[in-house]
Amino acid sequence: MRTHIITYGCQMNEYDTHLVRSELASIGAQFVDSPDEAEFVLLNTCAVRGKPVEKVRSVLGELRQEKQKRNLLIGMMGCLAQLEEGQQIARKFQVDVLLGPGAITEIGKAIESRSKFWDLTFKDRLTSHVPPAPRGQLSAFVSISRGCNHHCTYCIVPTTRGPEVSRPPDLILREIEAMKAAGVVEVMLLGQNVNSYGKDQPGYPSFAELLRMVGKVGIPRVKFTTSHPMNFSDDLVAAMAETPQVCEYIHLPVQSGSDRVLKRMAREYKRDWYLDRIKAIRQGIPDIVLSTDIIVGFPGETEEDFEQTLSLYDEVGYDQAYMFIYSARPGTPSYKHFEDLPRELKVERLQRLIEKQKEWSYRKNQNWVGKTVEVLVRGVAKENGYAEGHDRGNHPVLLPSSQVVGPGLYQAVIRQATPHLMFGEVAGAQAAATIPLVMA
Ligand code: 5AD
Ligand code: SF4
Repeated sequence: MRTHIITYGCQMNEYDTHLVRSELASIGAQFVDSPDEAEFVLLNTCAVRGKPVEKVRSVLGELRQEKQKRNLLIGMMGCLAQLEEGQQIARKFQVDVLLGPGAITEIGKAIESRSKFWDLTFKDRLTSHVPPAPRGQLSAFVSISRGCNHHCTYCIVPTTRGPEVSRPPDLILREIEAMKAAGVVEVMLLGQNVNSYGKDQPGYPSFAELLRMVGKVGIPRVKFTTSHPMNFSDDLVAAMAETPQVCEYIHLPVQSGSDRVLKRMAREYKRDWYLDRIKAIRQGIPDIVLSTDIIVGFPGETEEDFEQTLSLYDEVGYDQAYMFIYSARPGTPSYKHFEDLPRELKVERLQRLIEKQKEWSYRKNQNWVGKTVEVLVRGVAKENGYAEGHDRGNHPVLLPSSQVVGPGLYQAVIRQATPHLMFGEVAGAQAAATIPLVMA
């Protein structure tokens, strides 16, 4: 069956797309680049905010029209597929196959019987599944746990992905070893909350211990996401500091700088706790690159609360931030209990926050000018004459294509920086890569 997959949302969804692709390949699917050529179009959906849900609706609208003209099978997986909201959308748009995020391994059965699976108990099978190593890829994701045991009041993820289930450490290590053999030079360990890895299973290592084990496999770069401040232990800081493969980069969502808002979000920590974690991190890993997630306009957020977020930003001095306008998601506690703020107010605060982020990113990126970084070049950049990649701190870096023979790791000196990009030059002659330099 000619198949086309469209993926929305987070890195976990990207990883799940990789999983489902390998399942589909094993039952004979061929992959095509456009939905027009496909007999089966599968949408891997996101439900974390309203926008990605709207996007899925509009694509499904187009597919339903297409379906009236020809034989077409439509599938929906991912977080939206797990929700009542998604199941209604599926009925409306004549979706044939529906798979919740825990039921990916059931794709073959679901296609055969045109059925719908969203039972999270399938997740146990999923966590013990080892997908084949990706081919021709230098950077790869590895899921180490699924689901989340926190209950942030704005977040739909605990509903769609269920409680946390850690994958057995030996399977994780086996997957990473296979990746190393396949030429992968960077792994990103994935979970809704990687720091609490192992807590759900007696006898499993802690995340800090797992990180040390992953380091020993010997892939040059190890990164992880997402972290929760509550579970960011001193031992984890120590493990990062003593494991050379672990990159000097942490994504540590703060969501708000106001204790009042943090409490309403049920984030479980206060501003001071968060700042103390940042202090411990900076002490252990002085050159750490920090990014965060921030929600603006959470219900009840006052001007003073928002100013607390701005001042926290200055106190931490983030390298990068992902900033979101609060989106009321049906099924979350904050949707039920709190009233949404006016849109204009939320947009105005977002703009002020973006200004702050740009200033800091510019300042932080400038600090790298003249320094040498390790760039993982992935392919040709959209900017003419450049190859694009990213360094250990996750900064996007452009290098002149003339100095790059192909994808791979390069030492480069940063020459120039903007708030979004760094421009470098390859330092001296370097080993050629084995894969030709093509569009990433
Ligand atoms: N509205 C806005 N942003 C949200 N996030 C999660 N749920 C919501 C929501 N309802 C953001 C958080 C989280 C990131 C992945 O998405 O900042 O860290
Ligand atoms: Fe959602 Fe909070 Fe869990 Fe992150 S930690 S997935 S924001 S509930």
